[in-house]
Amino acid sequence: MPILGTKSREFYERAKKVIPYGVNSNFRYWSESETPVMADARDAYLYDFDGNRYIDYRMGFGPVILGHNDPLVTQRVVEAIQHGITYAATQEYEVKVAERIVEMCPGVDMVRLANTGSECTMHAIRLARGYTGRDLILKFEGSYHGAHDYVLWSTASAQLNRMGDRDHPIAYKQSWGIPELMRQLIEICPWNDPEALGELLKQKGEQIAAIIIEPVLGNAAVLMPRPGYLQFLREQCDQYGIVLIFDEVKTGFRIAPGGAGEYFGVLPDISTFAKAMGNGYPIAAVGGKRDIMMHIAPGKVFHGGTYTGNVVSTAAADATLEYIQSGAVFKQINHIGTRLKAGFEEILARHSLPGYVSGTPGMFALILADTPPIDWRELHNTNLELHEKIGNYLVEHYIFMEPDGFEPWFLCCDHTDADADLTLQLFDEAVKHALGK
Ligand SMILES: Cc1ncc(COP(=O)(O)O)c(C=O)c1O
Repeated sequence: MPILGTKSREFYERAKKVIPYGVNSNFRYWSESETPVMADARDAYLYDFDGNRYIDYRMGFGPVILGHNDPLVTQRVVEAIQHGITYAATQEYEVKVAERIVEMCPGVDMVRLANTGSECTMHAIRLARGYTGRDLILKFEGSYHGAHDYVLWSTASAQLNRMGDRDHPIAYKQSWGIPELMRQLIEICPWNDPEALGELLKQKGEQIAAIIIEPVLGNAAVLMPRPGYLQFLREQCDQYGIVLIFDEVKTGFRIAPGGAGEYFGVLPDISTFAKAMGNGYPIAAVGGKRDIMMHIAPGKVFHGGTYTGNVVSTAAADATLEYIQSGAVFKQINHIGTRLKAGFEEILARHSLPGYVSGTPGMFALILADTPPIDWRELHNTNLELHEKIGNYLVEHYIFMEPDGFEPWFLCCDHTDADADLTLQLFDEAVKHALGK
């Protein structure tokens, strides 16, 4: 069954006339015949232009943790915007949001707001450079930290055969138009490999301003850090005077109310947050230790933006974080996520298909392999082809997830037991279909 019905296809054709490939992010383009277009969203569901209802497990690539059009968030925004939107002066919701983040996220003493994840990783990196007086940045293969030139290297969609061998990784440029000169500012390392990192730091540790990580690889099948790995990173950063940045754009307020800092008990120097903090509204934050954050100052490290801290987004974040702080959100997400994980693994076992679910109840990925991969390179040895077949079947049956096996399944607190039942039933069918049973 094609994903696009007649009305959806007509709409997609219209979009393509004025928007390259009909999408406003390259990540949203699937193919000429399958790129999804949607007309409406409520709770855990999306509706296309032909009226088909999808159970949404993409949740806008992660932000929508309370469900689409959450009444609490909508009400707070509607109330707030009666008083204007952009003041070019500090307003109450900005302070409330900053207070909530400081309360929820261990190790965060102060924050500055931004609008997107890319914007706040850019600010975090500039802050680390300004603080240390160094230029080099280290990132890991398979991590994505946004659309700017500092970090658009060796992400999950890189080509493995152009990245050198594991011991000598070559930074892979992810876009035309990134100046070749930028390569001099980036060091690349395989994830989860203390020896490789230790060697690199022995040579270059004192030139590196920051190590930026996704605490779990939220853009590469939610590969978790090996036990002790984050602690090792912390110690190495302390030894060489490197700023440790946790890019929590995906994990923040999603793997735990206090993000990876709370979940793993290892604290970075700077954190970046976005997605789940605003339930889909454009808002982000850079936070960290007071002495580092106070380097953001006139004449020192620049941070700014016309729309940073606007009333709409901060009101949405205030309501979203309040709801997360109540405890109800994680209770439901943990319940459904745990059911799905157990159910998927039971179905795989029943069909003698080696595989498991990686990640946390609110953000997880299905990995089809005998041995768990430890990094992005090893992910290519898993059965991605079969994953895609299973994924395509699910999407064709209105389970909206990412067939490629890299992008996580995301839950919101509106997913119900009935959604889980239907998803598991279709997953069983999808596995049979993919295996040709
Ligand atoms: C870990 C991480 N960092 C940064 C970004 C960039 O965020 P945005 O798309 O809001 O610019 C993303 C986006 O998916 C992300 O997953």
